[in-house]
Parts: sequence; structure tokens; C-alpha cells
Amino acid sequence: MTSLVITVTETLRYRGALGQWSWMLHRLTGLGVVFFLFLHVIDTSWAVFYPELYVEAIAIYQSPLFTIGEFALVAAVVYHAINGLRITFFDFRPNLWRYQQRAAIAVLLITIIICVPVFILMFSHVIDHYNTNPTALPLLQVIGSQVPFLIGIVVALVAAIFYSVIHGVIAGDTTSKKQNPSGSRIERFWWSYMRISGVMILPLVFGHLAMMHVIQGVFDITAQNSVVVGTNMVNQSGTAVEFVANRWNMFVGGVAIWRLYDFGLLALVVVHGFNGLRYVLTDYTMGSPLLRRAAIYFCLMGAIVLLVLGSAMLFATIDSAAIEMAREATENLHP
Ligand code: HEM
Ligand code: HEM
Repeated sequence: MTSLVITVTETLRYRGALGQWSWMLHRLTGLGVVFFLFLHVIDTSWAVFYPELYVEAIAIYQSPLFTIGEFALVAAVVYHAINGLRITFFDFRPNLWRYQQRAAIAVLLITIIICVPVFILMFSHVIDHYNTNPTALPLLQVIGSQVPFLIGIVVALVAAIFYSVIHGVIAGDTTSKKQNPSGSRIERFWWSYMRISGVMILPLVFGHLAMMHVIQGVFDITAQNSVVVGTNMVNQSGTAVEFVANRWNMFVGGVAIWRLYDFGLLALVVVHGFNGLRYVLTDYTMGSPLLRRAAIYFCLMGAIVLLVLGSAMLFATIDSAAIEMAREATENLHP
């Protein structure tokens, strides 16, 4: 906790040092995207396990509050991705270190150059939507629907502290900073994983965002009789559940191409994101072995839950009964 306060105050005091600000921005954008990912994988699983709730989740994505969040999310992913490439490049080319400052400015410029046309296209989807269908869920319902997620996070934190206490009782609290060779080997693995996975995530996440925000847009997920992006199938019911069913039933050469794509994205992004979260949380809990262990348990639990839930749905089938339930739920959404 003390180290968190020091980080914030020192960053503010250390005004003008670009490296410090870009480190902070990389951290904040990474954390923001992890938080979104947590909500997103859970609510996407409802397309299979709870169709009525998925209809509401996508209606929430289409609310004005989430539309603002959607722009912030895209900017965060773009900045984090480009800055991640910069970090990776300079880590493997330390002789070019003197160009770091200029590269940090270039990252900001590239982010703006990518975001401006993307935002214009996203905004045109927003305008089209509000010209044709202005119904939106009330703000209080949108905010209230996120409360169970926050409760889930608090429960996971309490469970992580509980496991950490048990761990401490069984193994004893070790504050010694003895160098552990297998520990540093593992950390070297994670260091490489963060860089390699980042480079692999980039085309997958940019492709996903292009499909969901630019080519079709969040509002088109529920557009009746429209061809679903990346498929040759039509969303006849105009429900979010049929949208996902069509994408996952798209076969190319006998391969369910979007299920495979989503699995790759899920596996890479969850492990990268939660290991990143571990870096951040353990940085701020250095002084307490109990909290440090709890932070590790917390990230482990989060990653396992998302990987199990996210993969389970990729192997499931969305049948016509689920689409019918979604159709009824869509009709009841704006009575
Ligand atoms: C799109 C391509 C991406 C690239 C190229 C990338 C690259 C990187 C790199 C190089 C690091 C630094 C790792 C280290 O310090 O050892 C990092 C950290 C991190 N990344 Fe990513 N990343 C990407 C996507 C994501 C996504 C989608 C998420 C969220 C799910 C995410 C969350 C994080 C977090 C939380 C950190 C830790 C930040 C810190 O320690 O301050 N990243 N990323
Ligand atoms: C508001 C923005 C987004 C929307 C509207 C959206 C929409 C969707 C939809 C409709 C699916 C269902 C499967 C499919 O059609 O392919 C999906 C799955 C998925 N999305 Fe997104 N997405 C968004 C942003 C993101 C971001 C930023 C990430 C990564 C950090 C991401 C990661 C995933 C993953 C991993 C899956 C597979 C889920 C699973 O198997 O559990 N999405 N998304």
C-alpha cells in the first residue's frame, strides 16, 4: 500500500519525465482492459448458459454509458498494444535505448493516427443507431447490472486472503529475500511470455475490435436480417444470441474458424492480462508476504475461472431453443 502511494506521488512529482508517464499509462490501460475482459468473458458465456441475460448484457453494451466506455476501451487497447511493441523492441535492442523518449512520443502519435479514423467510423455507427432506434436501457439499470461483478471481485479478494492465511499457517511466512534459482527461471519465462504473447495478441485483438466496432459495430450485433460479420449467415431473429451462434457455426475447411480464433484470443489474453495484474498487485504488496500471496491467489483464481468458463462455452452448442429464449427476452427488453 505504501509503495502504491509512493508510486502515485512520485509520478506526479516527477513531472515531465515521459518514461514515467508512459509506464503509468501502460499500466493503467492494461488494468482497464483486464477489468473489461473479466466482465466480457463472463457475460459472453451467457450466450450459451443464460441466453436472456446475454440479451441484456448486449443491450447494456449498446447504452450511452457503455458507448463512451467503448471509445475509451479501443483507445486503451491501441495505446497498450503499440507501447507494448515499443517495450518489446527496446528490450531486444538495448543499444538503441537513447531513442526511448522519441519512441514514447511516436507511440502517442501512432495511437492518435489509428484512433482518429477508427473513432470516426465508430461514431458513424452511433449516429446511424440513434437515427433509427433511440431506445436505450435506463442508466440506473446499466449501473446496477455491474454490481454483481463488483461483489464477485470482493468475494474473490476475501477468498484469496483466506487462502493466503492458510498457506502462511502451513508453510510459514517467509520474508527472506534469498535468491531462489527456480523462482527466477519462472520469472524469466513470464518475462518472455509477456512479450511473445503481446505480439501474438495484437493481430487477434485488433481483428476482434475491427469486426465488433468498425466493420459491423456493437449496435449491429442485434440488427435483424443482417449478414453476421465474418460469416455468410443472416441473423434472422435479430438477437445477440443468434449473432454469436452464427459466428461459431461458421466452418472453413471443416474448422469452426471463429471458435478457434476466440480460443486463441481467450488463452493468450487471459494469461497475459492476469500475469500483468500479478505484476501490478505484487509491486504494491512487497512489504507484506500475506497480501503478496493473496495477490497471486487472486490472479490465479481470476485466470482459471475465465479460462474454464470461456473454453467451456466454446465447446458448447447454441441451439434454436436458446435463440427463441433470446427472441422473447429481446421483445421484453423495452416493453
Ligand atoms: C495487444 C497487444 C499487447 C501487447 C503488445 C502487450 C504488451 C505488453 C508488454 C510488453 C508488457 C510489459 C510486460 C513486462 O513488464 O514484463 C505488458 C504488460 C501488461 N499487459 Fe499487455 N500487451 C498487449 C495486450 C494486453 C491486453 C489485451 C491486456 C489485458 C487483458 C494486457 C494487460 C497487461 C497488463 C495488466 C500488464 C502489466 C502492466 C505493468 O506491469 O505495469 N495487455 N503488455
Ligand atoms: C465492447 C467491445 C467488444 C465487443 C462488443 C465484443 C464482442 C464479442 C462477441 C459478440 C463475442 C462472442 C464471440 C464472437 O462473436 O466471436 C466476443 C468474444 C470474445 N471477446 Fe470480445 N468484444 C469486445 C471487446 C473485446 C476485447 C477488448 C477483448 C480482449 C481484451 C475481447 C476478447 C474476447 C474473447 C477472448 C472472446 C471469446 C470469449 C470466450 O470464449 O469466452 N473482446 N466478443
